[in-house]
Amino acid sequence: MVKICCIGAGYVGGPTMAMIALKCPLIEVAVVDISVSRIAAWNSDQLPIYELGLEEVVKQCRGKNLFFSTDVERHVSEADIVFVSVNTPTKTQGLGAGKAADLAYWESAARMIADVSKSNKIVVEKSTVPVKTAEAIEKILTHNSKGINFQILSNPEFLAEGTAIQDLLNPDRVLIGGRETPDGQKAIQALKAVYAHWVPEDRILTTNLWSAELSKLAANAFLAQRISSVNAMSALCEATGADVSQVSHAVGEDTRIGPKFLNASVGFGGSCFQKDILNLVYICECNGLTEVANYWKQVIKVNDYQKNRFVNRVVSSMFNTISGKKIAILGFAFKKDTGDTRETPAIDVCKGLLGDKARLSIYDPQVTRDQIQRDLSMNKFDWDHPIHLQPMSPTAVKQVGVTWDAYEATKDAHGVCIFTEWDEFKTLDYKKIFDNMRKPAFVFDGRNIVDVEKLREIGFIVYSIGKPL
Ligand code: NAD
Ligand code: UGA
Repeated sequence: MVKICCIGAGYVGGPTMAMIALKCPLIEVAVVDISVSRIAAWNSDQLPIYELGLEEVVKQCRGKNLFFSTDVERHVSEADIVFVSVNTPTKTQGLGAGKAADLAYWESAARMIADVSKSNKIVVEKSTVPVKTAEAIEKILTHNSKGINFQILSNPEFLAEGTAIQDLLNPDRVLIGGRETPDGQKAIQALKAVYAHWVPEDRILTTNLWSAELSKLAANAFLAQRISSVNAMSALCEATGADVSQVSHAVGEDTRIGPKFLNASVGFGGSCFQKDILNLVYICECNGLTEVANYWKQVIKVNDYQKNRFVNRVVSSMFNTISGKKIAILGFAFKKDTGDTRETPAIDVCKGLLGDKARLSIYDPQVTRDQIQRDLSMNKFDWDHPIHLQPMSPTAVKQVGVTWDAYEATKDAHGVCIFTEWDEFKTLDYKKIFDNMRKPAFVFDGRNIVDVEKLREIGFIVYSIGKPL
């Protein structure tokens, strides 16, 4: 029986390993983490992440060939294949701060693997890392290895949150990069054999290590670039009377461009797009490629511009002052069908509104009050470095309320901002909401999900991204 151990029981490690366990009943999979509470949650009925279909998969395998444990060293030492799926956040201090990936968690995992290993192992980079990380990891492992053979593979993950189980079940591709030596190729084949239990062979791509590492950063950069492109167009639509949905549709019908990922929004969020592009920019700068770095930097700048534009629109529409006004925030997660708030555009926009002294009443069906308050208390990039946590200022605490109901959030509000495209926001009784709001009542739709004409008929003043005013 092959034994797999995954270090890091997060959004990637948990679902990915659960899928391997489901599809490979003869492989024993242990997911380990230093976070006691996270492992306890994986072993409970309340999994630490909300993901459609995940609970069923975990329940089918847990205790049979899928185990969650804090006994990191034992499981690593027993495994044939060790996946490393720890967080790789943006550095907040020192060289490359605000851009470079912080590989401290990765390095500590690699050193631990070197310390506890007694047999040959394949070590798989699952985390998203800078190009050439495998070389650094190889050095750490081989210099401490007591003659053990370690083969490093890069096997980046492409799942998106909210659709993780579907993405894992039916991936567009699985990418495996390895050394071009006989041992490297053997390791690639061993990992390929795991995925081949359910992924058609022609969808398993094999490359050299550096291509695999860079392809992950490139894929996220291309995806984010599409959103910044359509968001840049949304500003031009508002200035000219064009409608961004119509423009996206017309552009996306070109089969060379394609219709996906062209929804204008208040900005992209999530734990990876910004971090991975900044990482890419840093690598370009380190290689003297200033123009290439500046090209990708612009994707982030347009995203920041889009969030600022939204704040400015709210303030300027509401007669240039929102001081003391109640603004309802519908949706805080970075996209629908997830409770994840990492780098959600809602954080920056809420902070902007708070900066103009608004009172916020926030509702998201999957995000807790504690999470929202934590998010609004943190500085940029600190969220994945838990030691930097700062308490929310007392004034901010007074300015922010969190409710468990959209109607409660919008009661007596002057304006409503929609930040997440939850389906339930499409079918709210907007007449009832209007009746209970202060007048004039404003709606600022950051996801283009409401029926603008219908809301205008009710009496709302409606602002939608990239739509005629
Ligand atoms: P996460 O923060 O949810 O999980 C990482 C886990 O690693 C945490 O639970 C942490 O406690 C644990 N950890 C850190 N250091 C450890 C150590 N030394 N030993 C044991 N456990 C340790 O992160 P995530 O969202 O799962 O992302 C992991 C990686 O995958 C990142 O590099 C990210 O860029 C990449 N990625 C994420 C997604 C996504 O949708 N979230 C998708 C593709 C790729
Ligand atoms: C993204 C990628 O889609 C995954 O392939 C990748 O594995 C992952 O990042 C990662 O490396 O972490 P994810 O961030 O989970 O996945 O979610 P997306 O669906 O990509 O959405 C990202 C952000 O873009 C969200 O805030 C979403 O609302 C926004 N978005 C997406 C738009 O504003 N418009 C669109 O048309 C699509």
